[in-house]
Amino acid sequence: MSSAPSIRLEGLSIGYGRKIVAENLDIEFPGGQLSMVVGGSGSGKSTLVKHVLGLQPVITGKVFIGGHDMSSVSRRKRQCLRQRTGVLFQDGALLGSLKLKDNIALPLREHTRLTEGEILRIVEDRLAMVGLDHALELYPNELSGGMRKRAGLARALVMDPEILFCDEPTSGLDPVMSAELDQLLLEMMCQFDMTMVVVTHDLRSMHALADFVVVLGEQRCLFQGPIEELDSTEDAYLRRFLDRTPGERDAPRLTLPPISQDKMKLNCAELLGAKASGRKDGRCSS
Ligand SMILES: Nc1ncnc2c1ncn2[C@@H]1O[C@H](COP(=O)(O)OP(=O)(O)OP(=O)(O)O)[C@@H](O)[C@H]1O
Ligand SMILES: [Mg+2]
Repeated sequence: MSSAPSIRLEGLSIGYGRKIVAENLDIEFPGGQLSMVVGGSGSGKSTLVKHVLGLQPVITGKVFIGGHDMSSVSRRKRQCLRQRTGVLFQDGALLGSLKLKDNIALPLREHTRLTEGEILRIVEDRLAMVGLDHALELYPNELSGGMRKRAGLARALVMDPEILFCDEPTSGLDPVMSAELDQLLLEMMCQFDMTMVVVTHDLRSMHALADFVVVLGEQRCLFQGPIEELDSTEDAYLRRFLDRTPGERDAPRLTLPPISQDKMKLNCAELLGAKASGRKDGRCSS
């Protein structure tokens, strides 16, 4: 039985200032399970993560972590809960000027009183966990995309989080690296008692990893439940989303209007026109 905290959203509206991205979200990410948030581009997946992490103020509604209302807990408690939350940002969010070992050590130096020797031991352990024990002395720009993601994961795990958010962990990776990262996330779930929330576009990852799925779209939560329930849905919008496979060129778009050829020509002509000094017909002068 897991003791990892659940995350509950109650009547949550998210967005930026006056811009509402999604409204009235009543969602519960079960404690100790791996939940995935999917949905079209711009549906608000990253925005949702930012609100739950407290990086963006909620518009209305509440976020409960482990039953604690984040809007009314003491500052100390809130800080404590946040420190037990790890985040893997899309690009790993590593500081380019620091060696990998110092990037991973950052949260420990900031939030703990561990000695440098103890910090180094933890850093080495986490880097070994993600298969980067040989890379301690490297700088982020000396790492491949997949290595950067794994390094970001090591940093997210350095404070032994009870909750881990991963925003698009497999984006930009080739299929083999994606499968390896999925495998790594599954191993983390087995090794630690953790609540994990993974944002993805990758339906293959969703099927490989998810216990529980949330689908965002049309400014709301379109589905939440176990993956098996989503797979058997007959809802037309969800089916279009699920059945779309790469290569289906006529598959319906979920968020974008069709591209107008006229509009494209116009933009191109405008651009050429602006560059070609003195020429009004939009052609290059050379
Ligand atoms: N800092 C910001 N200020 C204002 N609007 C923003 C900001 N960040 C994102 N948005 C807007 O919020 C909406 C949702 O964006 P978000 O990044 O959450 O989408 P997403 O589902 O994560 O998309 P993707 O799959 O492409 O990453 C978009 O319309 C976007 O333009
Ligand atoms: Mg996003």
